[in-house]
Amino acid sequence: MKPVIVMASDHAGFHMKEFVKKQLEDAGYTVEDYGTHSEESVDTAPYAFRVGEEVAAHPDEKKGILICGTGLGMSIAANKVKGVRAPLVHDLFSAKMTVEHNHANVLCMGARVIAPNMAWEITKVWLAAKPLCGGKYERRVQQITDYDNKRG
Ligand code: RB5
Repeated sequence: MKPVIVMASDHAGFHMKEFVKKQLEDAGYTVEDYGTHSEESVDTAPYAFRVGEEVAAHPDEKKGILICGTGLGMSIAANKVKGVRAPLVHDLFSAKMTVEHNHANVLCMGARVIAPNMAWEITKVWLAAKPLCGGKYERRVQQITDYDNKRG
């Protein structure tokens, strides 16, 4: 079953978010859009926390996509949410690997770094990738989860 895609951007990522959202909806995904809804300047982190918390609360049903100017602010903030693994991705190889090896559940991209079409290509690869399970893969992800849990 397709995951629900939870999306947000700041003002710098607004147009790219709208573009990727449309492609996702055309491809049959349900998208929950937590803003922003214009080019008016906003702070980045609250959007990352909102999407991160939603994905962390529904780990089997939802995946997140966050877009800001560089993708960095979104990634740094989203990774503060317990249970979230939110890499910054600007190439197709990393899009696949970060699901397979890091079990990434939130995808961050920078609208001032890559073109909208590239963001959509990355999104498709990221969504198609499957986490590698068992052995070293699970152990490595578990180490991050354990650290999260230790922090409370
Ligand atoms: C906004 O100007 C910009 O700082 C933001 O979109 C993002 O790139 C932060 O990491």
